[in-house]
Amino acid sequence: MSPLPIVTGADNPILRRKNERVPKVTKEIKKLLRDMADSMTKEEGAGIAAPQVGVNVRVCIAVIDEKARALINPDITWKSDELTLDEEGCLSLPGLQVTVPRAREITVKYLDLQGKEQERRLADFNARVVQHEVDHLDGVLISDYAPVGTTT
Ligand code: NI
Repeated sequence: MSPLPIVTGADNPILRRKNERVPKVTKEIKKLLRDMADSMTKEEGAGIAAPQVGVNVRVCIAVIDEKARALINPDITWKSDELTLDEEGCLSLPGLQVTVPRAREITVKYLDLQGKEQERRLADFNARVVQHEVDHLDGVLISDYAPVGTTT
């Protein structure tokens, strides 16, 4: 186990920066993903994105069907019009719970640890976790979603 320290804070520039696509699934990327999975397990999270451990590349771990999976260069290529609301937390924003609207179903394309292209249709919790992690890769945090019921 080599858990890494988690980067925290809604205004932390590391969490807001652009994250670069990974040109190739190298040994270093695999090691990063293993360490990220260890960090997520230690903190009892359901997902973790590379910027959360201080590395600005487009890779994340998401718990899908109760198993931690590595998603490299994930792209959400389809979202259902149907949205669901649920509370989310984030390892980078300790103590914060935000009700976030998410598409109930998505299609996500990514590379797996073997560098093989994968395409999956996900729903409900699985879809929510992946949307949360892809948000991280776009520099978006749950604190950016206005609380439901507030008016401006
Ligand atoms: Ni998060």
